[in-house]
Amino acid sequence: MMKIAVYPGSFDPPTLGHLDVIKKASSIFDRVIVSVVENPNKKATFSKKERVRMLKKITKRFKNVEVDIFKGLLVNYVKKKRANFIIRGLRAVSDFEYEFQMALINKKLNPQAETVWFLPFIEHIYISSSIVKEIAKYKGNISCFVPEEIVEDIMRRFK
Ligand code: COA
Repeated sequence: MMKIAVYPGSFDPPTLGHLDVIKKASSIFDRVIVSVVENPNKKATFSKKERVRMLKKITKRFKNVEVDIFKGLLVNYVKKKRANFIIRGLRAVSDFEYEFQMALINKKLNPQAETVWFLPFIEHIYISSSIVKEIAKYKGNISCFVPEEIVEDIMRRFK
């Protein structure tokens, strides 16, 4: 059976931490679908199209990775894509409670899909999209937090 994984997230913007997770997933699964979703509890800085464009740039070299957008419940999207895994990144113990709750709810709603967590490399463990945006806003150097292909795209937004 094909191992198809969905990696959902707001990716506003994607970071080196996200890229770590994508790299690892790409080496394990047959197909990885990185999918941008709007989190209604957060106000996005980049449009979904801009986030897709950035994700496509940074994942170009991974032949089994594709980028998509979805609306609504993750489990419905996972079913539609015939995926059997949901990927999430775990950065710190503080992520765990929320991730654990999401994984259990998703499992209840779609028992066919298993959630798998990846740890980013230790040097990327403290990165978040909000921190990147805050540094960019004050014209700081974000190149050690995001892939170099999208540094300019992010900085342009804060000019
Ligand atoms: N490296 C760096 N940062 C990471 C990271 C990694 N590996 N993994 C997560 N993050 C950061 C993100 O940058 C983001 O930072 P921010 O808060 O500063 O923006 C934060 O961790 C969490 O973002 P994300 O992983 O995108 O999760 P989310 O909480 O925004 O959304 C979804 C999680 C998309 C999976 C969830 O909202 C969802 O499934 N939505 C669809 C609706 C649904 O099905 N709901 C029921 C779920 S039970």
